[in-house]
Amino acid sequence: MNLNEYKQVIKQLNIYAHHYYVLDDPITTDEIYDKLYHEVLDYEELNPDDILNNSPTQRVGDVVSDGFTKAPHLSRMWSLEDIFDSSGLEKWLIKTYKLDENITFYSEPKFDGASLNLIYKNGELYQGITRGDGEVGELITQNVKTIRSIPLTIEHKELIEIRGEVVIFKDDFQKINEERLKNNEAVFANPRNAAAGSLRQLDSSVSASRNLVFLPYGVGVNTLKHKLLSDKMSYIYELGFKKPPISRICKGFDEIESIYEIMKNERDSYEMLLDGMVIKVNEISSQIDMGYTVKVPRFSVAYKFPAIEKITTLKEIILQVGRTGAVTPVAIVEPTDIDGVVVERATLHNFDEIDRKDIRLGDKVIILRSGDVIPKIIKVLTHERNGSEVKFERPSVCPVCGSELLDEGVLLKCQNLSCEARVVNSIIYFASKPCLNIDGLGVKIVEVLFQSGLVKNVIDLFDLTLEKLLELDGFKEKKSQNLLNSLESAKGCDYWRFINSLGIEHIGEVASKTLSDNFGFEFIDATKEDMLKCDGIGEEMAESVLEFVRVNREIILELQNILKPKEPLKKEEAHDNPFKGKTVVLTGTMSKSRGVIKEMLENLGAKVSGSVSKKTDFLIYGEDAGSKYDKAMSLDVKCLNEDEMRELL
Ligand code: IVH
Repeated sequence: MNLNEYKQVIKQLNIYAHHYYVLDDPITTDEIYDKLYHEVLDYEELNPDDILNNSPTQRVGDVVSDGFTKAPHLSRMWSLEDIFDSSGLEKWLIKTYKLDENITFYSEPKFDGASLNLIYKNGELYQGITRGDGEVGELITQNVKTIRSIPLTIEHKELIEIRGEVVIFKDDFQKINEERLKNNEAVFANPRNAAAGSLRQLDSSVSASRNLVFLPYGVGVNTLKHKLLSDKMSYIYELGFKKPPISRICKGFDEIESIYEIMKNERDSYEMLLDGMVIKVNEISSQIDMGYTVKVPRFSVAYKFPAIEKITTLKEIILQVGRTGAVTPVAIVEPTDIDGVVVERATLHNFDEIDRKDIRLGDKVIILRSGDVIPKIIKVLTHERNGSEVKFERPSVCPVCGSELLDEGVLLKCQNLSCEARVVNSIIYFASKPCLNIDGLGVKIVEVLFQSGLVKNVIDLFDLTLEKLLELDGFKEKKSQNLLNSLESAKGCDYWRFINSLGIEHIGEVASKTLSDNFGFEFIDATKEDMLKCDGIGEEMAESVLEFVRVNREIILELQNILKPKEPLKKEEAHDNPFKGKTVVLTGTMSKSRGVIKEMLENLGAKVSGSVSKKTDFLIYGEDAGSKYDKAMSLDVKCLNEDEMRELL
């Protein structure tokens, strides 16, 4: 074989593989494929300098790494708002049509797997990054290269992020678990965990063996000019990515409901697990106008499939103690397969619920599982009782530290601030993704650190040294150094992460951002009055902050001194200008993207809305302005072109 023939054979092999893995339509036999593949291998062994990046041999996982590094996404990976029924859909549609009345929608399945961002540079797969916290994920390029439905090279040469879900087909999931059972390994609870776990294997040959499949659902940074999402997606499929088993462009409530019914009824027949349908506004310009809330896009929503119910037996009730000391009962049930997922645990919420439903050990119960929600017991089949069922006694002491529990009726609370469970869970929370996003502080490690006496609170974490760690069971040099490195990298974090990591009751990610934006480092001196002026901060939250700061001021300052978070720019009141406090609508093509102009106006204190109404103060129009312009004229709304807008400023 010469170089030309080698290139030719690679082309042919990639066509075969595309038909097999992406189009589900094989055009050759395994035998022919294998024969060519081995010819390529032989050639590459003799001519290692000629190896092409898109050679199928480059997918074979033989890279073993000792940990993943973090990598930023080029643009944020968002999550989705969920709706569960027709009335949720109706409400979402009303809200969305208010922003723009002329939209259509693109619907496709919501795949139940692990999300993945692929960055292609100059037509070559450059990085594969897990979702992580949406801004930063883990770099798993080596593992991603083993996924056959991900092209190593594409015809598109400009920088592009292609986002999608990595899934394991239901059949493969069964096989993996059967194999794991045989080898006495713990089985995966569901295909989503199996997919996520397989992506994060340090040994890429393990990822390669798992038959992972990538289904694209969108793009991040890109230079594509398509005006419709559906066209953008068609282009992505043409680049060699796998199409969803079903998708539809639809208008209005009835069409959306009908495609939802079809997906729901056909979901058993698809190879992958679906947990709902995603509805997205199809016009890209409207998507840009609508923008995002703090967490989710306004132009898209996940319409979840209804839960599935199964009957099983309650074997045991175990007790968990959380970081606030709340003790929650968890039901352990006879393992039951619900739509491809083996369910072994169900939440019981609280002790009142056990009494109210008269749940007894040994009872036959109906459990309900919907998508990613923890299964719950919805009914006890009392008529199936045979007298052997046992009532569950409400505990009076903490199952972890043995101290007496405070009985608040619905909630039982462990009062002991040094209770192992409370400390361990607060540290895990402190390190979690929406807080300081520190890797390597899982339950097992934190338990060892606590039991050794080295770490009794989060501040102690930053006194850890290599010498101290090396004395602990199971801590080798590499693992210890990795932990110290991740602790070090938490320094200089965003200030809202710092606030969130304090674990103040009622203050989550969104409130932490609000506090950080409004008060910066002065948040510990904010008065109740000041806090209540902020959007989204209520009475209970403000009081909780005050109480927390009163008790923990010293610790907060000490921690802040250690972590040295970035001082956020406080939101300034916009200076006086003609647009401050006004409602503005944008339409037509402008000199800059509408997103940019929208942001500029918002910084000036304007509210930018998607549709014209009597409440609109200004319409700012570009070229090809259409129905919005006409409507604004008919309502006597002041209309400005871009130049007039700038003049006014
Ligand atoms: S769109 C701009 N489409 O669901 C919003 N997400 O609950 C980006 N997912 O993190 C998401 N199938 O990992 C979108 N067809 C689909 C999806 C999908 C599965 C996952 C995705 C996302 C999560 C949000």
